[in-house]
Formats: sequence, C-alpha cells, structure tokens
Amino acid sequence: MKNMGSDIQPLVVFVVIALVTLIIPTNANLSPHFYDKDCPQALPLIRSVVQRAINREPRVGASLLRLHFHDCFVNGCDGSVLLDDTTNFVGEKTAFPNNNSIRGFSVVDEIKAEVDKACKRHVVSCADILAIAARDSVAIYGGQPFWYQVLLGRRDARTASRAAANSNLPPPTFSFSQLVSNFKSHGLNVRDLVALSGGHTIGFARCTNFRNRIYNESNIDPRFAASLRNICPRRGGDNNLEKLDASPARVDTTYFTDLLHKKGLLHSDQELFKGQGSESDKLVQLYSRSPLAFARDFKASMIKMGNLKPLTGNQGEIRCHCRRVN
Ligand code: HEM
Ligand SMILES: *[C@@H]1O[C@H](CO)[C@@H](O)[C@H](O)[C@H]1NC(C)=O
Ligand SMILES: *[C@@H]1O[C@H](CO)[C@@H](O)[C@H](O)[C@H]1NC(C)=O
Repeated sequence: MKNMGSDIQPLVVFVVIALVTLIIPTNANLSPHFYDKDCPQALPLIRSVVQRAINREPRVGASLLRLHFHDCFVNGCDGSVLLDDTTNFVGEKTAFPNNNSIRGFSVVDEIKAEVDKACKRHVVSCADILAIAARDSVAIYGGQPFWYQVLLGRRDARTASRAAANSNLPPPTFSFSQLVSNFKSHGLNVRDLVALSGGHTIGFARCTNFRNRIYNESNIDPRFAASLRNICPRRGGDNNLEKLDASPARVDTTYFTDLLHKKGLLHSDQELFKGQGSESDKLVQLYSRSPLAFARDFKASMIKMGNLKPLTGNQGEIRCHCRRVN
C-alpha cells in the first residue's frame, strides 16, 4: 500500500497539470482558421483592399498598424478605438495620444463594407479587421519574413472610454522605466517593448511629439536635431510631419540603426538605446544587424499583443458598422 501511494502521487500531479494546461487557454481561444468555413474569401479580400489603399496612399498601412496597437492597449483588442462618441460615452478618438493623430478609419470602413458584401452577412468583427489589416500592412512593407498567421475570433465591444485610452496608451515623453511598466501592465516584457517599438520602422510623427527632443535633449545627434528644426519650428507647425525612421515605407532594421546613431525621432524611441549595455541596448543592437531576429521577435510580440483580452464566444457583438455599436 505504501509503495502504491508513492507511485500514484506523481501520476495525479501529472494529470492535474495536463488538465490545467488544457483548461487555461494560452491563445485566448483565437484561431487562424476562424473564418475558414463562414467566409473563406475574407482574408484574401482584406489583403487586396489594404494593398489598394497603400498604393493610393503609402502611409496608410502605418496608420492601420497603429490603430491595432491603440485598440489592443485599451481594454483589449475589441475594436473600441473605432467607435465614434455617443450620448452614452466619449470614445477614444479624442484621447491625447489619438486626437488629430490616429487615422485610417475610412480604409477600415472600406474593408468592412467589402467583406460584409462578400460574406453576405456580418461575420467578420472590426477588431479582427484591425488585426488582419495590421498584419497585411507589415507584410506588404516588409515582405515574406514579416508575414505571420494572424489569430482570429475577436468580437467587438459595445462601449469605449476616452479615460481608459488616456491612462493606458504610453506617451512619447515616457522614460525607459515608464515604458517598461506600461508594457508590463499589458503583460508584455522588455523584448516585446523593443520589438514592437520597431513598428516605428514605418510611418510619421507630428512636430508636437518631437519638438522638445530636437531643441532640448542631449541624447540626440546634433546634426540630426538641426536638420529637423525647419520642419519643426519652436512655435507653430504642430502638425508638420517627419518620418519615424529613414525609410518610412519599408519594414526594415533602419529604425534600430538610427537608434544606434542617436537618431531616434521620439524621446521614447531613443530611451530604448543609451549605449550602456542594458538588455534593451542589446536587443536594439541585435535587431539592427539581424533582420530575421527582428522579424521573428516582432511577429511573436504582435501575436502576444493581439491576444490582449479579446472578447470571444458570445461576448460583445459583430458590428455592422465599425464606427458604431449595433
Ligand atoms: C512604445 C511606446 C510607443 C509610443 C510612446 C509611441 C508613440 C507614437 C507617437 C507619438 C507617434 C506619432 C503620432 C503623431 O505624431 O501623430 C507614433 C506613431 C506610430 N506608431 Fe507608435 N508608439 C509606441 C509604440 C508603438 C507600437 C507598439 C506600434 C505598433 C506595433 C506603433 C506603431 C506606430 C506607427 C506605425 C506610427 C505611425 C502612424 C502613421 O504614420 O499614421 N507604435 N507612435
Ligand atoms: C482635439 O483636437 C481638436 C482640434 O485640434 C481640439 O479642438 C479639441 O479640443 C481636442 N480635443 C481634446 C479632448 O483635446
Ligand atoms: C525646453 O525645455 C524648457 C524647460 O523645460 C521648456 O520650458 C521649453 O518649452 C522647452 N522647449 C521646447 C522647444 O520644447
């Protein structure tokens, strides 16, 4: 009897661990095949609308990537960022990091209309459209190494919150430790922070977001700072645009090599590299010399970000129009 007891115990522990592993969802029950049966046309169609939109306006893929990020960091990837204000709530569009800044809404509307028409009903959520459009944009600007299977099955929120957007999205004035703790609050680590900041390999920022950096900061290449003072004067020109890295329509490692040379445009960008041998410094160095390491980590972190608190099952709804609840 004594012997049997000590044989059974490890077995019981094993069974319990196996059950717990099965019960706790590691990918929040999202699946790359979620629309395979109900609307197999959805993914190729979205890709073609995104490609068409980028052909029309090269910047817009960057804007779509940022929309997915700003969606996921505010109460999870639930399409809340797309909702207009109503009498019941003030939405996220006028929160500080978003106001006069996030864009790409008309492309989302275009995708939604075409997908609903092709599927003949409302099956694809707005939250999933953001995840797919972000993935497609990155793959269009970066090529095959940046393509990944996007997990699907998110549903759409029935509400949104400007206050939540203000408190959950990191501003470009954040220090390294503030960035780390913001990402940590979303379940993301330093590697995720550095890899995902590589999203700034595409797109643009407004003068108001880098003025202090080019006039007041010391951890910046002086010639780089001087070269930006025309486009971004001390007073006025708040909305004037500058590219976030030297190649704003290519997903590549230029963002990271720029950081090595103190040419990060935003304060928060340069916080990731100070040349003091930190974990973050080492990741910037790694990604600057290895496009494949950057691609591998960026994709893994995008999938992690895309898994933030999705609504699934019968939570939320599938919106008929991405700007308003049904
Ligand atoms: C680490 C914290 C981050 C901060 C503080 C930050 C801040 C900013 C700021 C201030 C801008 C310029 C907005 C404007 O001037 O209107 C911007 C643009 C952008 N951000 Fe971030 N960001 C962060 C992380 C991310 C992440 C994780 C992604 C995606 C993976 C991302 C993707 C983008 C893109 C693509 C743009 C350009 C958008 C466009 O051209 O329309 N950012 N970000
Ligand atoms: C958003 O921007 C508009 C236009 O610049 C401005 O009038 C408005 O006050 C801003 N809203 C918030 C909440 O800051
Ligand atoms: C530079 O820093 C000073 C002191 O913090 C501030 O008052 C000033 O507005 C800053 N200049 C710019 C151009 O941001």
